[in-house]
Amino acid sequence: MMGRVPEHVTIIMDGNGRWAKKQGLKRVFGHKAGVESVRQATEFAAEKGIKYLSLFAFSDENWSRPQDEVSALMELMVDAILKETPTLVKNNVKFRVIGDMSRLPQRVLDKIASAEDTTKLNSGLCLIVFLSYSGKWDIMQAFDRYVNEEASAAEAKGAKFKFIPDQSKLESYLSTAGIPDPDLLIRTSGEQRISNYLLWQTAYTEFYFPEVLWPDFRKTHFQDALDVYTARERRYGKTGEQVNNL
Ligand code: FPP
Repeated sequence: MMGRVPEHVTIIMDGNGRWAKKQGLKRVFGHKAGVESVRQATEFAAEKGIKYLSLFAFSDENWSRPQDEVSALMELMVDAILKETPTLVKNNVKFRVIGDMSRLPQRVLDKIASAEDTTKLNSGLCLIVFLSYSGKWDIMQAFDRYVNEEASAAEAKGAKFKFIPDQSKLESYLSTAGIPDPDLLIRTSGEQRISNYLLWQTAYTEFYFPEVLWPDFRKTHFQDALDVYTARERRYGKTGEQVNNL
């Protein structure tokens, strides 16, 4: 709703490579510096009472980056998760990772499972990291499970299978089931694309594209984004009058 803090803010953390290049450093230093921005954004979200903060950390497409960059990124994330878990616990933050887990190394999976387990009863901010994620992958896996389960249910009853598509049923199979759709999407570094991120879930999301590179993203930039969000009229495809009467 307008005037209130958004319930779910999602961020495409972009510009790490360019930030590093500007300082004459290797790309991986940009990712390293980006971890501090993750910390700041998480703190800010918790302070503001935002319920869900989600971060696009690694896309399906990122698997095709040079092997050493992929390994360095995995290493960084595992390290950060390990190091930050006690702080997450202390601050009542629930941690979740969403994505195509079948492509992640076992060592990474173990650390994720342990951090998720340790924080699962926390009731404050929910911090979601999208890892090995793509919007098309999500819709396809949801559709696949949906159709198969409907077919099996029909088979179990001995009934002929007739598929009747239902949007809310499909949503219940998305990897984000139970998480409200993002109210606000921020993509840093001035790029204005969705890049196969949350496709279904951003149907009514407000988009904001600041120029700042992710490693430079601080609380003031996050506050700017909230101010822009508050100033916009959210019509949900309705007329202003209909929205005012809600
Ligand atoms: C995009 O910049 C950024 C990434 C692909 C990785 C982001 C990941 C982190 C900052 C680590 C996060 C850690 C945790 C624990 C969630 P880019 O490399 O595409 O930059 P460029 O467009 O300038 O090349």
